[in-house]
Amino acid sequence: MRAIASVRATLPYRYIEHPFDKRHGLDTAGYLSKRDLVTGHPHDTYLTGYSAVAPSVFRRMCRHWIDTLAARRRVQAFSFVDVGAGKGRALLLASELPFRKVIGVELSKELAHIAAQNIEKWKREYRARVPIRVVHQDILDFCWPRTPLLVYLYNPFEREMIEHLIECLQSAAKAGSRCVDVLYLNPVFGYLLTRSRLFGELWSERITMSQEDQNADPYATSTDLVSAYRFSPP
Ligand SMILES: C[S@@+](CC[C@H](N)C(=O)[O-])C[C@H]1O[C@@H](n2cnc3c(N)ncnc32)[C@H](O)[C@@H]1O
Repeated sequence: MRAIASVRATLPYRYIEHPFDKRHGLDTAGYLSKRDLVTGHPHDTYLTGYSAVAPSVFRRMCRHWIDTLAARRRVQAFSFVDVGAGKGRALLLASELPFRKVIGVELSKELAHIAAQNIEKWKREYRARVPIRVVHQDILDFCWPRTPLLVYLYNPFEREMIEHLIECLQSAAKAGSRCVDVLYLNPVFGYLLTRSRLFGELWSERITMSQEDQNADPYATSTDLVSAYRFSPP
């Protein structure tokens, strides 16, 4: 993390702590710019930066998704995949739900290492209900589980990578996943999913953070927009 820590602050709340970390002895908070995350990988060009999802937003979006699960589908059937897992906060929160398994994919070796440490601490507290792991990999090299998928993104990268990701999800669906739902937080390129005609929008919701999350938000914001999509080719 030394290379990351040496970069100067560009946001007022770059080093802000979160009570979620304090309570559980974790390291998931803070903000890192795209320059901080440079790995040497060709896909660095498309980085957006790092910050972690607000727990209240994550929990609310999952509840909403569960409410709109297609008939005959159960959470237990789905693998949860975090595209750009960062320090793993979303993985930890997802592991409180009865997913089949929880997997994070992260391009930055340093962040994947921190996520792995956080996962170990989370497991030691017996908070993980399901298998959970992080892989240090570019998302385009990821081998998608052949199970129903809940693919979660928190604005991880720019337009070109979203286009490639849509192709990967189409292949995963054909290869056996069949059911692919997407939760996209801060869905800057959400229109690409619907424009591809492979995904339909299920819902969009502006979620208000809990007071605790608002106080610890690196961007000093109080709401987040989330959109949900379902793979439904014509
Ligand atoms: C905004 S952070 C999201 C953190 C986490 N998903 C959460 O919700 O708390 C986006 C992450 O995507 C990662 N990322 C960007 N491009 C990637 C790629 N091509 N493959 C895997 N991860 C990538 C970044 O390194 C960064 O950690």
